[in-house]
Parts: sequence; structure tokens; C-alpha cells
Amino acid sequence: MRIVELGPDDWEEFRAIRLRALADAPDSFATLLADAAQEPEESLRARLSSPTPVLVVRSAGDLLATGGGYLPPEPPDVMTVWGMWTAPEARGRGHGRALLTRLLDWAHTRSISIVELHVTEGNDTARRLYESCGFVATGEWQPLREGSPLRVELLRRAGS
Ligand SMILES: CC(C)(COP(=O)(O)OP(=O)(O)OC[C@H]1O[C@@H](n2cnc3c(N)ncnc32)[C@H](O)[C@@H]1OP(=O)(O)O)[C@@H](O)C(=O)NCCC(=O)NCCS
Repeated sequence: MRIVELGPDDWEEFRAIRLRALADAPDSFATLLADAAQEPEESLRARLSSPTPVLVVRSAGDLLATGGGYLPPEPPDVMTVWGMWTAPEARGRGHGRALLTRLLDWAHTRSISIVELHVTEGNDTARRLYESCGFVATGEWQPLREGSPLRVELLRRAGS
């Protein structure tokens, strides 16, 4: 079992795990499965060409978990963590924590001291993971996506 950073040539694997995540936990992500299913190869390759890593946990050819980082072009001083997901059969084994730690290490080595992410109200499992890694609730809420009755809260982690 190892953590691997995906590159542009891994776009089909990335799409497969992304669609699996969106089908499994639609209320955890802003993107809709139907929209993600139509995302073209070019766009997926572009995402995987970004300097911020898109990570997966790979075990004997299977992808068990994923999570990525995003840095805006300007100013590139706050990283957003997105797409955290572990396959249901592999949960509770530390994959989510390992991926998040790797993303935080990536930011730390680049002197990016602020990392943010959104968590859906009621997603206590994810919130517990984030809080145990130093993220703090900001009280800033917004809809999960346009028209959704669900809300997400911004969590922020500052410092190393
Ligand atoms: C949130 C998620 C990514 C965690 O992944 P995971 O690989 O199971 O996480 P880990 O095994 O590293 O567990 C990390 C922490 O999460 C919490 N946690 C994990 N499983 C839990 C469970 N069944 N009940 C409560 N808390 C749990 C614990 O705080 C745990 O810390 P510990 O290891 O000290 O006990 C996973 O549950 C998931 O994919 N959920 C659906 C998608 C989702 O909600 N993504 C987050 C979007 S913001």
C-alpha cells in the first residue's frame, strides 16, 4: 500500500475514483456526479498537471482513497484541500489521515501556512479527522452547491 501522486497520464484512473467518490458520497462534494461524468480528458489532464498534488492510496492495483490540493495562481498562499474520499471498505484504517498529512507536508515545505477546506454539516467523521489535524471551524457557511439545502462550513488551519 502506498501513496502515489497522479499525473496527467493517470486521467482515467482519476476519473474512475472521482466518479466512485461522487456516487458514494454526493452530499460531501459540490460537484455533481452527472457533471463529473462528462468532464473531458483534456480537462482531467489539466487538473493533474497542476503543481498541487492529487494523491491516491494504491494497494495491489486498487485505488482505495484520494485527496487533492489546490493553489490559486495569485496569490498562491492559501491551499485548499478537496476531494477527500476513502472507499467504504477501506475506511478507518488511516488512509484519510495519511493523505491529509501528506498534503499538509507538501504545503509546509513550500511555506504555505494556511490550508482551508469545506465540510458538509453533519459530516462528523470528516470534521473529526480535520479537527484532529489542526483545522478550526470558521463559522463561515455557504450552500454545498447552488440550489442545495445542505450547507458547508469553511475550516482553516494556520501554522505548521
Ligand atoms: C472522511 C473520510 C475521507 C475519512 O477517511 P478514512 O480513511 O476512513 O479516515 P482515517 O481512517 O484516516 O480516520 C481518520 C479519523 O477520522 C475519524 N473517523 C474515521 N472513521 C470514523 C468512523 N467510522 N466514525 C467516526 N470517526 C471516524 C476519526 O477521527 C479518525 O481518527 P483516528 O484514526 O484517530 O481514530 C471517509 O470517511 C470518507 O471518504 N467519507 C465520505 C466522503 C467524505 O465525507 N469526504 C470528506 C469531504 S469534506
